[in-house]
Amino acid sequence: MENKGKTNKLGEEIIVGGLRLGSNVLMAPLAGYTCFPFRLMVEKLGAGAAFTEMVSVNGLKYNDRATKKLLYTDDREKLKCVQLLGGIPMAFERAVKDGLLDGFDVIDINMGCPVPNVVKAGEGSALLTDIPRAAKIIEACKRSGKVVSVKCRLGMNRHNIVIEEFARMCEGSGADMLSVHGRTRDMMYDGEPLYDYIRKAKDCVSIPVFANGGIYSKEKAHEMMEKTGADGIMLARYGIENPPIFSELTGRESNETKYSLIMEQIDIAQECYDELFVLSYIKKLASYFMKKLPGTKQAKQDIYKCGSIPELRKALSVLE
Ligand SMILES: Cc1cc2nc3c(=O)[nH]c(=O)nc-3n(C[C@H](O)[C@H](O)[C@H](O)COP(=O)(O)O)c2cc1C
Repeated sequence: MENKGKTNKLGEEIIVGGLRLGSNVLMAPLAGYTCFPFRLMVEKLGAGAAFTEMVSVNGLKYNDRATKKLLYTDDREKLKCVQLLGGIPMAFERAVKDGLLDGFDVIDINMGCPVPNVVKAGEGSALLTDIPRAAKIIEACKRSGKVVSVKCRLGMNRHNIVIEEFARMCEGSGADMLSVHGRTRDMMYDGEPLYDYIRKAKDCVSIPVFANGGIYSKEKAHEMMEKTGADGIMLARYGIENPPIFSELTGRESNETKYSLIMEQIDIAQECYDELFVLSYIKKLASYFMKKLPGTKQAKQDIYKCGSIPELRKALSVLE
């Protein structure tokens, strides 16, 4: 591969499937967090792309209120990326053609979710064990004419690491990009990522490969790039805990603080969602923002007791 052995720089622009991403630092899909206001925030701070949380292809056909919330976007979001979860190629084919996803530029396919019910249904990381079916899903999504990416793990466990064969299959089936969470399904969300296997994935394909997992500091972000040779990184929990990391890693100018950011999140969320949703989202976000801040135990409890937006705004002044 032409990039073999080369360390790509964090913050650089990158082309994915013909689309120019402003940086190679991406925001992962996270259920309960990566709603429209959150994605706008990280895009503004320098994220090259930010994904909706996983949306079930089976749920899409009902187009209910919950699905509409997950799919909400508008012109303020420059690059629109949706993540789909499912297990049946036909269901993906229908989902990408039924019009609901027309506004999205990128379709990402979840091939990494480790949750037991998801795996039992043959979705998420279960697809790592059925490579021909995973290939058909990618091909079905490609028929939409959109840019298609895949987010996957290394395999089900350390004795069954399939990432190289899987990465080749993704490229061969038409995927434009791959995000590799450097853990196996049985590691769930803990433990040091297996850097060598992300590197192997990078080395066996020509499409851009993004490395994900365990990046919880600026240093870890650089370490991930060096150890894997990836084209970029995908932040997940740390992107929620500390969104200003995007401007730090990409060199974008920003005077934003966690306080100014969360106040803006409330404003945008109020424009798009009902009060109950806003309260729940902002409380969860605030709790992540305060995760490693000493002396915030009481403040976290107070925030969870707030029953209205004005009350919540007041309680959040601890972040000032
Ligand atoms: C609360 C939570 C929700 C998540 N939701 C999704 C999701 O909807 N789709 C997905 O592909 N991964 C999801 N993930 C996995 C993350 O995108 C990421 O791969 C994982 O957290 C590893 O990265 P990290 O160690 O930097 O957090 C979720 C993780 C967490 C903790």
